[in-house]
Amino acid sequence: MNQKFLLKIAEKLGTPLYVYSEEQIRKNYREFLSAFKSRYRNTKIFYALKANSSLAICHILRQEGSCADVVSIGELKVAQRIGIKPKDIIFTNNSKTDQDLDDAIEAGIIVNIDSIDELHRLHKIAKNKRKAVNVSFRVNPAIDPKTHPKISTGLKESKFGIHLENNIALDAYITAQTLDWIEIKGIHTHIGSQITDMNAFKDMTEKIMQFTLELKEKIGLELKFIDLGGGLGIQYTDDATPTPDDYAGTIIPVVNEYNKKLNYEPELWFEPGRYILGNVGVLLCKVTGVKETPYKKFVNVDAGFNVLMRPSMYDSYHRIQVLNRIDENATETYDIVGNICESGDILARERKLPRVKGGDIIAVYDTGAYGFSMSSQYNQRPRPAEILTWGGTVEVIREKETFDDLLRNQKAPNDLID
Ligand SMILES: Cc1ncc(COP(=O)(O)O)c(C=O)c1O
Repeated sequence: MNQKFLLKIAEKLGTPLYVYSEEQIRKNYREFLSAFKSRYRNTKIFYALKANSSLAICHILRQEGSCADVVSIGELKVAQRIGIKPKDIIFTNNSKTDQDLDDAIEAGIIVNIDSIDELHRLHKIAKNKRKAVNVSFRVNPAIDPKTHPKISTGLKESKFGIHLENNIALDAYITAQTLDWIEIKGIHTHIGSQITDMNAFKDMTEKIMQFTLELKEKIGLELKFIDLGGGLGIQYTDDATPTPDDYAGTIIPVVNEYNKKLNYEPELWFEPGRYILGNVGVLLCKVTGVKETPYKKFVNVDAGFNVLMRPSMYDSYHRIQVLNRIDENATETYDIVGNICESGDILARERKLPRVKGGDIIAVYDTGAYGFSMSSQYNQRPRPAEILTWGGTVEVIREKETFDDLLRNQKAPNDLID
C-alpha cells in the first residue's frame, strides 16, 4: 500500500486505524500453501484465527480454501459464521471448560486434547451426549524454538501439551484407544511463534514423526493427520527471514523419510497466523504533539498499547514512517509513545525520523497479525476501526467502537439500588 494512499485514508477516516491489503492476504496464503503442496500433496492449511479473527479477513481465507484453527468458542463462532465445515475446524486450548468441550462436541469439530484430565472429561461428556468426538493430542516435544520466551510454547517447562518423554503421550493414546466415544484422528504440536531457526522446525518434525512411527509399531495406530502448528516468522526488521519455501524444504524430506517406514501417508496440517496476516496490516495513528525533555524526545500519538499490544508485551519491533514526510531527511531521534497511562506504553524506541510535528500521520507497519486481535478497551478507550483495501478501493470491515459500546452491559450504582 503506497504512502500517499495510506495518508488519504487516514485523512478521510480518522485515526487510529488498521488498514489491511486483501491482495497481500491472498498472496501470503498462496505462497505458504504452494511451498508445501508442491512438495507434499496431502497438505492442508488451518489459518490460526487468533492472529486476526475479523469476519472479512477470515472470509477471504475461507475463499482461498483455508480450514480453521480456533482457540475459543468465540473463534469457533467466527469459523461457523463464515461457513467452515466442522471437520475443517480444530479446537486447541490448554484450559477448556466442560462447557467448551460440550460446545465442541455439539459442533462436531476436532478437539485437540492438552492433558489426560481433559481426555477423561471429554469422554464423559461425549458419552452422556451419546456423540463420538474426533480428537488429536497436542504433544510437547521439549524444543527451544529460539524466539521470544513469551511466545515459546513447546519448551519442556511450558504449560502446553502432553510430554513425549517417559511415554506420557504414548499412554494418552493407549488410554484413548480404550474409550468408546473418542475417535483418534491425529497428532498436533506448536512450538512457538516468530520462529526463524529452521533447525528448530527440523527437530520438531523429527520428534513428531518418530513418535508417529512409535504409535504404529507399538499400538498399531495410523493417524489421519499430523498437525505441525504455526510459528513461521516474518521480516519485521531489515534482516531477511526464512520463507515458507525454506521451511517446507527443511521438513518435507524428513516427513517423506519417515513415511517410507510408516508405510502410509498422513495428511500434513499447518496453522500459520502471523505469516498470512503479519505484513498485510498497517496501523495509522496521528501525532498529538512532540515533547522534548532534558533526556529524550517523545512523539505522542493517538494509539496506545490498547490498540497495539505487541511492543509493550514482547518488545517487538515495527517499522515506522511519518507518512507526510517521507521525502524529508531523518535528523531526529524519538521514542514514539502511546496515550495509555503506563510507562511501558512505548510503540517504538530510539527511532531516527524527520522532524515531527503535531498532526503528522505515523504508519506502524507489519501489524496485521496480533494487532487488532490483541487490542482492548483499557483506559476506557474504544477500539479502532479496521479497513480492507483492494487496489484503490477501501471498505470498512469493522466500525470504530463508540463510547456507548464501552458502557454497554454495565450497571451504574443507581440501577443496582433502585
Ligand atoms: C496452537 C497454535 N497454532 C497456531 C498458532 C499461530 O502461530 P503463528 O501466528 O506464529 O503462525 C498459534 C499461535 O500462538 C498457536 O498457539
